Amino acid sequence: QELQLNLEQIEKGGYDHFMLKEIHEQPSVIKDTYRGRLHADDGILRLGGLENHIEKFLNADRIIIVACGTSWHAGLVAEYFIEDFTRIPVEVEYASEFRYRNPIISEKDVIIAISQSGETADTLAAIKLAKQKGAFVYGVCNVVGSSISRETDSGTYTHAGPEIGVASTKAFTTQITVLTMIALRLAKAKGTISHSDFVRYLHELELIPTHVEKALQTEDEIKEIASVFMNVRNFLYLGRGYNFPVALEGALKLKEISYIHAEGYPAAEMKHGPIALIDESMPVVVIAIKSDHYEKVVSNIQEIKARKGKILAVVSEGDKTVREMADYVMVVPHTPEALSPLVTTIPLQLLSYHIAVMLGRNVDQPRNLAKSVTVE
Ligand code: G6P
Repeated sequence: QELQLNLEQIEKGGYDHFMLKEIHEQPSVIKDTYRGRLHADDGILRLGGLENHIEKFLNADRIIIVACGTSWHAGLVAEYFIEDFTRIPVEVEYASEFRYRNPIISEKDVIIAISQSGETADTLAAIKLAKQKGAFVYGVCNVVGSSISRETDSGTYTHAGPEIGVASTKAFTTQITVLTMIALRLAKAKGTISHSDFVRYLHELELIPTHVEKALQTEDEIKEIASVFMNVRNFLYLGRGYNFPVALEGALKLKEISYIHAEGYPAAEMKHGPIALIDESMPVVVIAIKSDHYEKVVSNIQEIKARKGKILAVVSEGDKTVREMADYVMVVPHTPEALSPLVTTIPLQLLSYHIAVMLGRNVDQPRNLAKSVTVE
């Protein structure tokens, strides 16, 4: 018994929970994920599993991404990136819906299946269906040799290392890293990105671990925010563009481990429903980094404030406007908007973690959830 406990403590590497360890591992595992694949100084980006299949992607009518849970959120980020940079149409589907709705799939489609475990039953079944219909299936998995990685035609592994916490953290950011590299590689091959922009993005990707490290340093301030809001019953998360999926993911993290009800929404959709919920007891987490949508997000914040909602804003370093309006801020370093989900996610992971810990929840093994859902 004692030996067991000690072993677990060693595995947690000095952290109280696997989830916290995995959150803090992100700078190094993101680096592991692009290491050997990306050399910004030489303008090189090479993904072993992709090189022989680039034509398949470039000739595809569309790319369909299938996944579940957090992996589905990574797929949504990828939709923005791939369409933006490659101009190839992308659809993102819950694997469970895709497999049962008699989807239209042909040999001209490319499927990307995203799965940390590589064992999710619905994702596996969606792949089998797509293969039967002749589509080319590409996997983005973390677990080497997993069922999904074996079933797919080719793929790229995230090198996140074992993820033990049921709530996914480092798997998410490394999935986005891989999907971003796929999009950049395709854009380069297709000629939809200039060489200088391509190289600039490679350099920006290499800076992400440092930015994530910096975002992690705000943990004490985030703990403070957690202690103020730990007892509320509902949370709203808002984001736009690339950060809309981050809002969904932030809300999911909070639900999963704290059991507080949280909803993620595209900020502009707030007026079509969630605004009715806002009053002085409603915290609203708004991703309000410097981006093309900044001004619009600022006006969303004004609407929330007019209804006395509490604003917890994720802002870029140096931001003044939102800082003055918000009740609390979580500061992240500035990145190009397309890469920002890799850093804006960090404070939201920490916020949910600390709220759950303060509520005494079983953070690593939340009730009713499984790390890998291998049955329907
Ligand atoms: C479960 C886990 C989630 C995960 C989802 C998909 O619900 O609790 O953290 O995002 O499955 O898992 P996968 O292994 O396919 O990424």
